[in-house]
Amino acid sequence: MSKITAAITAVGGYVPDYVLTNKELETLVETTDEWITTRTGIKERRILKGADMGTSELCAPVALEICRKRGISPEEIDLLIVATVTPDMVFPATANVVTDKIGAKNAWGFDINAACSGFLYALDTGARFIESGRYKKVMVIGADKMSSIIDYTDRTTCIIFGDGGAGVLLEPNTEGFGLLDSILKSDGHGREYLHMKAGGSARPATLETVQQREHFVYQEGKMVFKYAVANMSEAAHQIMERNQLTADSVAWLVPHQANKRIIDATAHRMGLPDEKVMVNIQKYGNTTGGTIPLCLWDYEKQLKKGDNLVLAAFGGGFTWGASYIRWAYDPK
Ligand SMILES: CC(C)(COP(=O)(O)OP(=O)(O)OC[C@H]1O[C@@H](n2cnc3c(N)ncnc32)[C@H](O)[C@@H]1OP(=O)(O)O)[C@@H](O)C(=O)NCCC(=O)NCCS
Repeated sequence: MSKITAAITAVGGYVPDYVLTNKELETLVETTDEWITTRTGIKERRILKGADMGTSELCAPVALEICRKRGISPEEIDLLIVATVTPDMVFPATANVVTDKIGAKNAWGFDINAACSGFLYALDTGARFIESGRYKKVMVIGADKMSSIIDYTDRTTCIIFGDGGAGVLLEPNTEGFGLLDSILKSDGHGREYLHMKAGGSARPATLETVQQREHFVYQEGKMVFKYAVANMSEAAHQIMERNQLTADSVAWLVPHQANKRIIDATAHRMGLPDEKVMVNIQKYGNTTGGTIPLCLWDYEKQLKKGDNLVLAAFGGGFTWGASYIRWAYDPK
């Protein structure tokens, strides 16, 4: 029997309606549209408004769009993996909430917490369940409501992040399409530079932690930037070498959208021209787990069967990696 690979057979995405522009941020913190644009490439980001609206509210429309596009019912999903650092609750997993909301009665599921590399970790994990032959329909969603952990008085972080999510359906393929290789890395030492101080078991929420604003993203941007450029571009370069890919044979780089300058550095290391690089950071900012699948969602119509895609990410943890996908279908 030929080897089973996990092919992406449908893509879905969702961003909330509210647009938070650089102009509006100018009214919240001391910053300018010009500074944000030149330092990050971001012009606007989406925000999920409303009481009791968690990350599952971003995931449910994604899952339903995927089912609609693939022509399946949610009851046919075997497994749902959600990559997020902003779960609806500490427990249960957001995947459980989503399966309930969409009526995926036969699915089991779990969350993966790997920050901005979450989608790569989840995609590789989901692929294993397909490759084993045991599961036929595995859905992988990356989504974050970053506005729930962002301090809108901190100009160094509030300009970067936004809310949104997207995902894919994985199905077995025996013709060599789908996820073909991944390099996944982590280094816990990097937690020093990017983390949330309180709200976990080490420092549970107290009046003091709230007053000290410790339930928001803490980031030392310069250090994160340095490690992101080095590690994301190195992982992308390594996956090309390991799979004998060249700048000509790679159709697309699908990079995590944290900063346009990090994206440019990765593309440069791979020898790729701008027209082969997916970029939507200007519209959504950094949606953490959502960035890579949101790129696939935005660019889906330009993807052709047989295209070689390199996905690359870097995020809190530190976590980073790159994946090689051979795209399985032509635009519909
Ligand atoms: C956050 C980031 C955009 C900051 O850009 P930077 O070029 O490194 O800027 P610096 O932090 O060196 O700050 C430069 C100056 O701009 C100021 N500044 C910071 N944010 C600002 C803002 N929003 N508006 C205006 N000025 C700002 C700083 O206070 C500093 O001023 P100073 O020189 O008087 O001290 C950048 O470091 C970055 O993108 N880091 C990686 C982020 C990331 O990828 N995070 C997600 C994990 S994947």
